[in-house]
Amino acid sequence: MLGRLNHVALAVPDLAAAVAAYRNTLGAEVTEPQALPEHGVTVVFVNVGNTKIELLEPLGEGSPIAAFLAKNPSGGMHHLCYEVDDILAARDQLKAAGARVLGDGNPKIGAHGKPVLFLHPKDFFGTLIELEQS
Ligand code: CO
Repeated sequence: MLGRLNHVALAVPDLAAAVAAYRNTLGAEVTEPQALPEHGVTVVFVNVGNTKIELLEPLGEGSPIAAFLAKNPSGGMHHLCYEVDDILAARDQLKAAGARVLGDGNPKIGAHGKPVLFLHPKDFFGTLIELEQS
Protein backbone atom coordinates (compact mmCIF):
# COMPACT_ATOMS: atom_id res chain seq x y z
CA MET A 1 0.00 0.00 0.00
CA LEU A 2 2.64 2.47 1.08
CA GLY A 3 4.47 4.33 -1.67
CA ARG A 4 7.24 6.90 -1.55
CA LEU A 5 7.70 9.59 1.09
CA ASN A 6 6.12 12.66 -0.49
CA HIS A 7 7.08 15.11 2.26
CA VAL A 8 7.97 15.70 5.89
CA ALA A 9 5.90 18.53 7.38
CA LEU A 10 7.17 20.98 9.98
CA ALA A 11 4.80 23.29 11.85
CA VAL A 12 6.35 26.74 12.29
CA PRO A 13 5.17 29.79 14.23
CA ASP A 14 6.41 32.29 11.60
CA LEU A 15 6.35 31.12 7.98
CA ALA A 16 8.27 34.13 6.63
CA ALA A 17 11.09 33.50 9.11
CA ALA A 18 11.13 29.79 8.25
CA VAL A 19 11.20 30.52 4.50
CA ALA A 20 14.10 32.95 5.03
CA ALA A 21 16.01 30.34 7.05
CA TYR A 22 15.55 27.62 4.41
CA ARG A 23 16.11 29.93 1.41
CA ASN A 24 18.92 32.13 2.71
CA THR A 25 20.66 30.17 5.47
CA LEU A 26 20.25 26.65 4.07
CA GLY A 27 20.29 27.74 0.41
CA ALA A 28 17.21 25.69 -0.53
CA GLU A 29 14.62 26.19 -3.26
CA VAL A 30 11.32 27.19 -1.61
CA THR A 31 7.92 27.59 -3.32
CA GLU A 32 5.65 30.61 -2.87
CA PRO A 33 3.19 30.48 0.10
CA GLN A 34 -0.14 28.80 -0.64
CA ALA A 35 -3.17 29.40 1.62
CA LEU A 36 -5.29 26.29 2.23
CA PRO A 37 -8.31 27.57 4.18
CA GLU A 38 -9.98 24.16 4.14
CA HIS A 39 -6.97 22.76 6.04
CA GLY A 40 -6.43 25.85 8.25
CA VAL A 41 -2.82 26.31 7.13
CA THR A 42 -0.57 28.28 4.82
CA VAL A 43 2.14 26.09 3.25
CA VAL A 44 5.35 26.28 1.28
CA PHE A 45 7.42 23.38 0.01
CA VAL A 46 11.20 23.09 0.18
CA ASN A 47 12.60 20.92 -2.61
CA VAL A 48 15.39 18.67 -1.37
CA GLY A 49 15.76 16.25 -4.26
CA ASN A 50 14.67 12.93 -2.76
CA THR A 51 11.59 14.40 -1.02
CA LYS A 52 10.10 17.72 0.05
CA ILE A 53 9.82 19.56 3.35
CA GLU A 54 6.42 21.18 3.93
CA LEU A 55 6.46 24.22 6.20
CA LEU A 56 3.06 24.89 7.81
CA GLU A 57 1.79 28.03 9.50
CA PRO A 58 -1.68 28.32 11.11
CA LEU A 59 -4.36 30.05 9.02
CA GLY A 60 -7.58 31.34 10.57
CA GLU A 61 -9.43 30.36 13.73
CA GLY A 62 -9.25 26.79 14.96
CA SER A 63 -6.28 25.77 12.81
CA PRO A 64 -5.52 22.07 13.30
CA ILE A 65 -1.87 22.96 13.99
CA ALA A 66 -2.61 25.62 16.64
CA ALA A 67 -2.59 23.13 19.54
CA PHE A 68 0.64 21.57 18.24
CA LEU A 69 2.35 24.97 18.19
CA ALA A 70 1.02 25.78 21.66
CA LYS A 71 2.87 22.66 22.86
CA ASN A 72 5.89 23.26 20.60
CA PRO A 73 6.24 27.05 20.46
CA SER A 74 9.41 27.06 18.36
CA GLY A 75 7.88 24.58 15.88
CA GLY A 76 8.54 20.92 15.19
CA MET A 77 7.88 17.89 13.03
CA HIS A 78 4.12 17.65 12.45
CA HIS A 79 3.50 14.79 10.01
CA LEU A 80 4.89 12.47 7.35
CA CYS A 81 3.14 12.16 3.98
CA TYR A 82 3.27 8.88 2.10
CA GLU A 83 1.92 8.32 -1.39
CA VAL A 84 -0.64 5.60 -2.11
CA ASP A 85 -1.90 4.41 -5.49
CA ASP A 86 -5.57 4.32 -4.50
CA ILE A 87 -6.53 6.44 -1.51
CA LEU A 88 -10.03 5.00 -1.08
CA ALA A 89 -8.76 1.43 -1.19
CA ALA A 90 -6.01 2.36 1.30
CA ARG A 91 -8.58 4.00 3.60
CA ASP A 92 -10.87 0.96 3.54
CA GLN A 93 -7.97 -1.41 4.18
CA LEU A 94 -6.70 0.71 7.09
CA LYS A 95 -10.14 1.06 8.65
CA ALA A 96 -10.66 -2.68 8.39
CA ALA A 97 -7.34 -3.10 10.24
CA GLY A 98 -8.59 -0.82 13.04
CA ALA A 99 -6.70 2.38 12.17
CA ARG A 100 -8.53 5.64 12.76
CA VAL A 101 -8.94 8.03 9.82
CA LEU A 102 -9.31 11.66 10.96
CA GLY A 103 -12.23 13.92 10.04
CA ASP A 104 -15.25 12.45 8.28
CA GLY A 105 -13.11 9.80 6.59
CA ASN A 106 -13.47 11.32 3.15
CA PRO A 107 -10.36 12.63 1.36
CA LYS A 108 -9.90 16.39 1.03
CA ILE A 109 -7.88 18.04 -1.72
CA GLY A 110 -4.38 18.74 -0.41
CA ALA A 111 -1.61 21.18 -1.29
CA HIS A 112 -0.71 19.32 -4.49
CA GLY A 113 -4.30 19.28 -5.79
CA LYS A 114 -4.62 15.57 -4.98
CA PRO A 115 -6.85 13.78 -2.44
CA VAL A 116 -5.37 13.39 1.06
CA LEU A 117 -6.34 11.72 4.34
CA PHE A 118 -4.81 11.81 7.81
CA LEU A 119 -4.38 8.85 10.18
CA HIS A 120 -4.52 9.12 13.97
CA PRO A 121 -1.02 9.51 15.47
CA LYS A 122 -1.88 7.19 18.38
CA ASP A 123 -2.29 4.34 15.91
CA PHE A 124 1.18 4.96 14.40
CA PHE A 125 3.54 5.40 17.34
CA GLY A 126 2.97 9.10 17.92
CA THR A 127 3.37 10.24 14.31
CA LEU A 128 0.56 11.84 12.34
CA ILE A 129 0.46 10.26 8.87
CA GLU A 130 -0.90 11.92 5.74
CA LEU A 131 -1.73 9.74 2.75
CA GLU A 132 -1.74 11.35 -0.70
CA GLN A 133 -3.09 9.81 -3.86
CA SER A 134 -0.08 9.45 -6.18
CO1 CO B 1 1.37 17.47 4.35
